[in-house]
Amino acid sequence: MRVQECVLSDEVISADSAEAALWDAIVVPKEIKERLRNQTVLSLFMRRDLPFAVTALHGLCTLYGPPGTGKTTLARGLPAQIACYVPGGKVRRIEINPHGLMSAEHGQSQQRVSELLSEYVPGLASDGLPTVVILDEVESMAVARSAASLAANPADVHRATDAVLTVLDLNAAEHPHLFFVATSNFTTALDEAFLSRSDAAILVPLPGPEALREIMASTLLTLADKYPALGELARSSAIDHIAVAARGLDGRRTRKVVFEALAQRLDTVLDPGNLTEDDLADAVRNAVADTGLPEVSRATH
Ligand SMILES: Nc1ncnc2c1ncn2[C@@H]1O[C@H](COP(=O)(O)OP(=O)(O)OP(=O)(O)O)[C@@H](O)[C@H]1O
Ligand SMILES: [Mg+2]
Repeated sequence: MRVQECVLSDEVISADSAEAALWDAIVVPKEIKERLRNQTVLSLFMRRDLPFAVTALHGLCTLYGPPGTGKTTLARGLPAQIACYVPGGKVRRIEINPHGLMSAEHGQSQQRVSELLSEYVPGLASDGLPTVVILDEVESMAVARSAASLAANPADVHRATDAVLTVLDLNAAEHPHLFFVATSNFTTALDEAFLSRSDAAILVPLPGPEALREIMASTLLTLADKYPALGELARSSAIDHIAVAARGLDGRRTRKVVFEALAQRLDTVLDPGNLTEDDLADAVRNAVADTGLPEVSRATH
C-alpha cells in the first residue's frame, strides 16, 4: 500500500460549512468540546508566535475512550469549529487512517510512517493554512513499546512508534500550522512517550442518562420531519425511563437502537410513525443485553 492511500480526505473547510453539523450531533459534556476547541486554537496561535523551547507544545491532542462515543466525529467536526478564529476563516482537514501503514514486510512500517507524516502530509499543507490532521485509530501506529510483545512483529512496531515520535518532534519545531488529533479506543496500549507529547489527552466517555435521552430524542426528532408522530414520542416522559434503562450503550448504538426498534415489527417498518414507547423500550433492553454487562452490575453502579 502506498502512503497516499492512507490519506482518506484532504479538504479546506470554512466556519459556515455544513460540516458544523458533525460537531453538534455529538452529545458530550460541554467541557469536552470546549477543551478540544480551545486547545487547538491556543496551540495554533502559540506555536506560530513562540519557539517550541518555550511552549513545549507539540500540536497534538489525543481523544480516547470506548468505541462509538463520538471521537472520530468530533475530530472531523473540529476544523469548522475553529475556522472562525483563524485569519482567513479557513482550515484544512486531512484524515489519515494508519492501518494500512503497518506493513508485513520487515522494517517497512517505520519508513512509511516517516514518509507519510514528515513528507507527504506537510507537502499537502505547504501553503501554510492552519491544518487539522486526524490520525484515526492511532493505536495501530503508536503502540506501547512495553506491550509490543502482543504484536506480530514487535521490532517493527517499536520502530514505527519511534518514527511517530520523531515526526511529532519535527512537526513541533517545523510546522506550527499543523495540529494533529489522534483518536484511540484504548489508552493502556498507547505509548507513554506518545501520550506525553499530547498537549491534551481527553477522555470521551460513554454517555450518561441525560446524554442517552438526548441522543435518542434527537434521532427521533430528525425522523419526525417525515413522521410527525415520532416528535411526540421524542418529547414524552417515557424517553426519560428508557434512557435510564439504556445505561451502558455507546452513542453509536443509542442512535441505532431507534432503527432496531423500528425493525422489530413490519408495521413500524412500513410506517415508522406507529413506533410506541414499548417498541423502543424492548429494543433498548435487547441492545443492553447484547453489551454483555450483567444485570446486577448495571443495577448497582
Ligand atoms: N456522544 C454521542 N452523541 C451522539 N451521537 C453519537 C455519540 N457518539 C457516537 N454517536 C453516533 O455514532 C456515530 C459514530 O461515532 P464515531 O465514529 O465518532 O465514534 P468513535 O468514538 O470514533 O468510535 P470508534 O472508537 O469505534 O472509532 C456518530 O456519527 C454518531 O451518529
Ligand atoms: Mg473512531
